[in-house]
Amino acid sequence: MAAILEVSNLTREFRSGKERLRVLDDVSFTLEAGATCAVVGPSGSGKSTLLGLCAGLDAPTAGGVVLAGKELAGLDEDERAALRNRETGFVFQNFQLIPTLTALENVMVPLEMRGGAPLKTVRERARELLAEVGLADRETHYPVQLSGGEQQRVALARAFINRPSILFADEPNGNLDGETSARVTDLLFSLNEKEGTALVLVTHDLELAERTGRLLRLKRGRLESDESTTAAAGDPAALDAR
Ligand SMILES: Nc1ncnc2c1ncn2[C@@H]1O[C@H](COP(=O)(O)OP(=O)(O)OP(=O)(O)O)[C@@H](O)[C@H]1O
Ligand SMILES: [Mg+2]
Repeated sequence: MAAILEVSNLTREFRSGKERLRVLDDVSFTLEAGATCAVVGPSGSGKSTLLGLCAGLDAPTAGGVVLAGKELAGLDEDERAALRNRETGFVFQNFQLIPTLTALENVMVPLEMRGGAPLKTVRERARELLAEVGLADRETHYPVQLSGGEQQRVALARAFINRPSILFADEPNGNLDGETSARVTDLLFSLNEKEGTALVLVTHDLELAERTGRLLRLKRGRLESDESTTAAAGDPAALDAR
């Protein structure tokens, strides 16, 4: 099967004064189309940085990313934006909803940006998605009028609207209570099953991580381990034994 994401020797440094801080250090992995994977690791280990680089939201200091067959470094900013819009959904750790737009309008944005679909169709699809995340009665609310968990669900609906081939989500259930979290998680995995959307989920929730096929563990910017969790899928004891 073709790879949806190929990460090669990815390194990201930030300058702080005279120091150079290496936040990601020579990370490589490949994700097949339709596969699911969790990125885990302590706070500050580089998880969000890795996600941003994979989606072309940030540029690496060294190494490269091939997303949906395209080498990101070979594209200009407009081409990268078009590729992101076409192939990816992204749920930011802090949601990044547009404050001047309602929940419904926020969800509509990526499909409107893509162009081609009549506004009515875009609105209907956004409505369906808001209902799926349990926010049918919040369409006209602005982000400030929504709780953290509600904003997170709007961000998820927005990430789904273009039926991406790969969805990046940074702690997608970080702000949700148990019941809402289970619902959102089911939604993510049904997207994977029904539409073949690959999932890359940053999470501190091991239960969620174990539902994916693969666990990437970061520590101080390095990929400390990369293991398949499928062997354990039918045998919870195998995971407990680790
Ligand atoms: N723009 C930046 N400039 C300087 N340092 C940065 C920048 N972005 C991230 N860092 C540093 O990179 C390190 C990794 O950050 P990152 O946000 O990727 O961690 P994380 O694993 O997502 O953590 P958390 O679980 O807390 O979200 C941190 O030490 C952070 O301070
Ligand atoms: Mg983070």
